[in-house]
Amino acid sequence: MAILTVLGIETSCDETAAAVVRGQPPGPGEILSNVVFSQSEAHAPYGGVVPEIASRAHLEILDDIIARALSEAELTLGEVDAVAATAGPGLIGGVMVGLTTAKALALAAGKPLIAVNHLAGHALTARLTDGVGFPFLLLLVSGGHCQLLAVQSAEDFRLYGSTMDDAAGEAFDKTAKLLGLGYPGGPLVEAHAARGNPRAFALPRPLLGRGLADSNRADFSFSGLKTAMRQLAQDKTISIDDACASFQAAVIDILQDRCATAMNMFAADFPGQDQPCLVVAGGVAANRAIGQGLAEVAGKAGFALRIPPARLCTDNGAMIAWAGLERFAVGASDPLETGPRARWPLDRKV
Ligand code: KG4
Ligand code: ZN
Repeated sequence: MAILTVLGIETSCDETAAAVVRGQPPGPGEILSNVVFSQSEAHAPYGGVVPEIASRAHLEILDDIIARALSEAELTLGEVDAVAATAGPGLIGGVMVGLTTAKALALAAGKPLIAVNHLAGHALTARLTDGVGFPFLLLLVSGGHCQLLAVQSAEDFRLYGSTMDDAAGEAFDKTAKLLGLGYPGGPLVEAHAARGNPRAFALPRPLLGRGLADSNRADFSFSGLKTAMRQLAQDKTISIDDACASFQAAVIDILQDRCATAMNMFAADFPGQDQPCLVVAGGVAANRAIGQGLAEVAGKAGFALRIPPARLCTDNGAMIAWAGLERFAVGASDPLETGPRARWPLDRKV
């Protein structure tokens, strides 16, 4: 199989990103450039991402970001094999900006267009970084998603569980907002939690202990925890550090429990794997305490744990370039009529 070089464009949320990646499946690949512009300052006054502000900001800066990604990679557009862009799921205005730009570049340079599912980008990052082989178990924990899936190929995913309400990252962001910490909440809550007592407050752990026999198997729920945090935050005398530590401890317990169930399901579906692998992806995977908690349960179940470096866990162009490269390597490309998709679940064929 030939070594491929792919330009990747990511605009589905509040990061405007472009990257050039080179390699071949199963990886690891080489990141020739990875330029990420975070819009979080523009959204911070609102405590969350404002879609209209996001799409305007993508439009203003994306051309520059792509030019920088190509120049840092010391390549021209003519020298890449394909142009990949996030086609969903995400904020539709932003996705339109990135996908339309990718179409224009592909058309102008006579290159194939690869429409990438943003979640597949997160899912396949551990192949870009570590060359993890199929199948593997994936915990995808970001601001918009919280799912456990078996990843069987770059295009086949089997869903074991997903959130019934909020995503884990959303719970971090809401907790930060309730405690007046700012946006994005995850890193701020983690920093306070490191200084607090995780047993200071008794918080709920929804769905804990559900197993294979339950209909909602490895599903998640964070709304009860969020409500408890809202009540807790009304008392302005509490220690913010203790509140963050107690919240994070509850999230770790929930993720550990759900992953333990999913590892059982994966082992039953794919028996006889020497060293099955649990991969954690998405922005929340940048949290070190969560990583340590998951290393514990993975070790107990005989799974290896892989967590890509933090800058590749949060939204970036390299993950989109790599997911595009994986699809292109198996002969896939997409017509210029391909539309942006606000919703695009992974467990149907991408
Ligand atoms: O994957 P991502 O960059 O964007 C989405 O596709 O959602 O994830 C962003 C989410 C935010 O909710 C952010 O608060 C969370 O990831 N996050 C963290 C940490 N760093 C980012 N959550 C917990 N701990 C962190 N260190
Ligand atoms: Zn993401």
